[in-house]
Amino acid sequence: MIKIMKNKVKRVINCLKMIPDFYYDYKNYAKHSLHVGNYQEEGHAFGLIIRIYHTIEKGLSITNKKPEFGLDSIHWLQNIIINNLSESERNNIHVQSAVATLNKYFELNRNENNSQKFLYEEERFNKTVSKFYTGKVNGGTKSLNVASDWDNYSTFFKNRSSIREFNTDVILDDDIKKIISIAKHCPSACNRQAIKIYYSKSISQNMEILSLQNGSRTFRDNVPGIMIVCSDIRYQEGKEERNLGYIEGGIWIMSLINAMHSLGFGACALNWCVSRKADENLKELINIPKHYQISAMIAFGRPNKDQVVPYSLRKDNEEFIEEIK
Ligand SMILES: Cc1cc2nc3c(=O)[nH]c(=O)nc-3n(C[C@H](O)[C@H](O)[C@H](O)COP(=O)(O)O)c2cc1C
Repeated sequence: MIKIMKNKVKRVINCLKMIPDFYYDYKNYAKHSLHVGNYQEEGHAFGLIIRIYHTIEKGLSITNKKPEFGLDSIHWLQNIIINNLSESERNNIHVQSAVATLNKYFELNRNENNSQKFLYEEERFNKTVSKFYTGKVNGGTKSLNVASDWDNYSTFFKNRSSIREFNTDVILDDDIKKIISIAKHCPSACNRQAIKIYYSKSISQNMEILSLQNGSRTFRDNVPGIMIVCSDIRYQEGKEERNLGYIEGGIWIMSLINAMHSLGFGACALNWCVSRKADENLKELINIPKHYQISAMIAFGRPNKDQVVPYSLRKDNEEFIEEIK
């Protein structure tokens, strides 16, 4: 009895000791992440611009595009480029790619019946935003590279694109096994392999699952396969490992996508950046126990070969690195 009591007390003390470390994460996130009232740093503007123009690139890559789609995003993006950036910031390659994307958007949507809202944005583009374009980088969409005779890792890796349009080929149990048998060779902390992949091969079930996800609205009705990458937090020890599940989840996401790519599947990572309620709803919908932490989903299937995909410009190498001195 005394031993049980002692263990309970120890448990409570250990739980309380975790709070300062979680609070440390919270404070840093609240201070530096982008949220209403906290738009002040250069990084905030670029992050936002990339997110908005990426949605326009995505819209441009869809086969059945809605006419004049995303005009609110266009308005927002042009406001930021016109009002919130200095001249040197407008030369940033992502701003340049955003302008190239806007150019393709207006070219593609122009016709005799355009709405007033479209014409207003187009005029702002022609009079102001287009003048910022230096012609150095591209944007919008690019053709999908469907080669499969990769001769080295560099060409294999560089020729992967996120795929959002799939043909109707059914995914087989054997396909799932083949994908996992490659992907599981990724590293994991202490080789604990604390990962569980929930998967579904039913287009209708996938649509229901994806209705809870916020980045698949335009293609969720035709997704042959889904994987949900979860990590088992019962494998993690102490406050120090509080984020390890997400790290391993991220490593698995890339490993699965590469395995799919090597087998001729197209795939798209799908964020699971949701509220507590949405997380609970998904877990309830498909019976995922609470001790699993969801990192993200992956939509996959055989790609439609003649699709275009978002241009998705990469930053220059130097922008990613800083030498430690
Ligand atoms: C963690 C993560 C979450 C993502 N979430 C979504 C999403 O919700 N919807 C989507 O269409 N694409 C999503 N993507 C795909 C990115 O948009 C894509 O990787 C990026 O634009 C680069 O393009 P590429 O993969 O074709 O090179 C996600 C990617 C990652 C890594």
